[in-house]
Amino acid sequence: MGETMWAVVVEDDQPLKLGDVTRPECGPDDVLIEVQTAGLNRADLVQRRGLYPPPPGASEIMGLECAGTIVETGANVTGWGVGDRVCGLMAGGGYAEYALVDQGSLFRIPDGMSFNEAGALPEVMMTVWANIFDRCQFKPGESVLIHGGTSGIGTMAIQMLKVAGAARIMITAGSDEKCAYAKQLGADIAINYKTADFEAIVRDEGGADIILDMVGGDYVQKNISAAKLGGRIVNIAYMQGSQVQVNLMPLMLKRLILTGTTLRARPNADKQRIRDAILADFWPAVLSGAIKPIIDTVYPFDQAEAAQAHMAKGGHIGKILLSRQQS
Ligand SMILES: NC(=O)c1ccc[n+]([C@@H]2O[C@H](COP(=O)([O-])OP(=O)(O)OC[C@H]3O[C@@H](n4cnc5c(N)ncnc54)[C@H](OP(=O)(O)O)[C@@H]3O)[C@@H](O)[C@H]2O)c1
Repeated sequence: MGETMWAVVVEDDQPLKLGDVTRPECGPDDVLIEVQTAGLNRADLVQRRGLYPPPPGASEIMGLECAGTIVETGANVTGWGVGDRVCGLMAGGGYAEYALVDQGSLFRIPDGMSFNEAGALPEVMMTVWANIFDRCQFKPGESVLIHGGTSGIGTMAIQMLKVAGAARIMITAGSDEKCAYAKQLGADIAINYKTADFEAIVRDEGGADIILDMVGGDYVQKNISAAKLGGRIVNIAYMQGSQVQVNLMPLMLKRLILTGTTLRARPNADKQRIRDAILADFWPAVLSGAIKPIIDTVYPFDQAEAAQAHMAKGGHIGKILLSRQQS
């Protein structure tokens, strides 16, 4: 065993706890970050159950994003140095004292922004850009429906679409309180899916050019119905199931595109392309405060079990974080 560090470890069905593991070694394109904050993602809960293993070569430790300070740089790293405050995306390893991030997946933390705020940004910004702006080719003046509108992803999607000039931002969420929050954040129409039928409401509003969905199940057919002519529907998860019976006829008649993506398994060059697009198109809005990290709760790393239980239970608005800093 080389140098050691603490990390959140998974041991069978035991509650998560901190344990000693080997500290990762910098590859040529990596920076080693002393982690202050790690973002929680729903994928972590799935990985913990053994159903979403890390891609080959990635850390076995959970955690797809972090913020902290660079303590070491790989031989090919340019433009980043020891002491830089950064946040970034990785394929694993964030729930730990130190983590590796490829230089192409790094963002410099703006002056005045805390590690916790910065740690809430990489995964949601990159996922929203990769799906709504890249895969679905959003154009200003289009209308967008976002399911899970107060999730980490949803709260960022609302803000990025506002900045990008969406005609109408529609969201679904599971309570009136969540719907009110989404409206305050910039949603034009917020639908409590527990008390209203989003398909009928979105159709009454003229339909959606783009639909971002993580629910799946019976939403697959309803999304096809709620989409406008030429609409694009992208799934980033299928929480209610991916095996469904669907009538595809409207797909053909409305010339729809039904697609889906993941972020984690992409090559680093593709993640760098996404990072660069965000820096060009949306980072100015982060610097100006037009796009804000939305944080629900910050837990210490030794309470990772409670943090994941919170995410599993739901009810949160925005991101749940693990951090050494509780404010
Ligand atoms: N493919 C990718 O690249 C990628 C990347 C990042 C995240 N994701 C996925 O995207 C989803 C959101 O991620 P996150 O980290 O933001 O997680 P999160 O905050 O836990 O969001 C999950 C959301 O799903 C909503 N939801 C559950 N059932 C719903 C329903 N029937 N209708 C509408 N909304 C419903 C929940 O809202 P209510 O509490 O209001 O029901 C909650 O806000 C997760 O499933 C995650 O795995 C995929």
